[in-house]
Amino acid sequence: MGVLHKLESFVKAGAAGDDEFRAAVLSGLARHPKTLEPKFFYDERGSQLFDAITELEEYYPTRAETAALESHAAEIAAFVGRGASLVEFGSGSSVKTRLLLENLAGLRCYVPIDISGAHLQAAAERLAADYALPVIPVHADYTGAFALPDVVPAAGRLGFFPGSTIGNFDPPAAVAFLRRARDLLGPGARFLVGADLQKDAARLVAAYDDAQGVTAAFNLNLLRRINRELAGDFDLAAFRHEARYDPELGRIEMHLVSRAAQQVTIAGHSFSFAAGESIHTENSYKYTLESFADLARQGGWRSEAQWLDPEGLFSLHGLVAD
Ligand SMILES: C[S@@+](CC[C@H](N)C(=O)[O-])C[C@H]1O[C@@H](n2cnc3c(N)ncnc32)[C@H](O)[C@@H]1O
Repeated sequence: MGVLHKLESFVKAGAAGDDEFRAAVLSGLARHPKTLEPKFFYDERGSQLFDAITELEEYYPTRAETAALESHAAEIAAFVGRGASLVEFGSGSSVKTRLLLENLAGLRCYVPIDISGAHLQAAAERLAADYALPVIPVHADYTGAFALPDVVPAAGRLGFFPGSTIGNFDPPAAVAFLRRARDLLGPGARFLVGADLQKDAARLVAAYDDAQGVTAAFNLNLLRRINRELAGDFDLAAFRHEARYDPELGRIEMHLVSRAAQQVTIAGHSFSFAAGESIHTENSYKYTLESFADLARQGGWRSEAQWLDPEGLFSLHGLVAD
């Protein structure tokens, strides 16, 4: 139905020996505390596990953000105006995007950007089959610089960054991301960004440590990926998933905790773990409406409107490039 453009790729295939992944894992595990970036969760299996997380009872952010998009559809459409080019960061399966594609008037094209190449391609094919507009997938890492293809009109770009994925950045990195996004989207751009709100710690921890163990499998899959792509010998059973809330920093942390003292070899390099030592794999910062608007301002955006779900769990900010 729509026109599917060829995947534009700025990311090397995640094959054995991928230089960036290798260097990041070797340096991240040599650090104290041991740390790995959450962008490495998303191999094909990681993307599938994330989709399973969005279906969990405990994982309120997807339902709440969807409810915010649905209950404020008309106001969001008025904020965006007619004829925008929709550019989505970390698009995954592009499920929430469908609400925008159905409610925004005269969209010119849809540009999903994601680090998980095969998953992105499959989602782009589904969207092009279901909607009559050009779909232009871009395989890129949005923590670095890249360009949009020339076919994306330069004027009237609308960024979309749902999923509270912006919460994975610490505040200085979030500000740097927002500035890069403003440069990429250009003057006069608008940006819809989903930011999870601060709330009761028990509810937050449950959302990142579900009873079925899907989030644990998602976290542990990173070790499986290291074993496969970097000749690692992690014993997955020797690590356990842990979600912690840090009230001072206002963030959920995900860790992989070593159950015993052990040695692990990766790409010929040996790493020691003490019993109880962890690899810090993800942060998810939680905001208030004011603290997120302030962050956006530092990133070069004015928060012109905020929309919440009926329960007030999650916020969607309508930003305008300053
Ligand atoms: C938390 S999921 C959100 C997916 C979807 N947007 C949603 O709201 O349900 C994060 C998405 O961002 C992608 N992603 C994570 N880090 C990325 C990076 N550095 N560059 C590009 N995509 C990234 C992942 O592959 C995944 O699809």
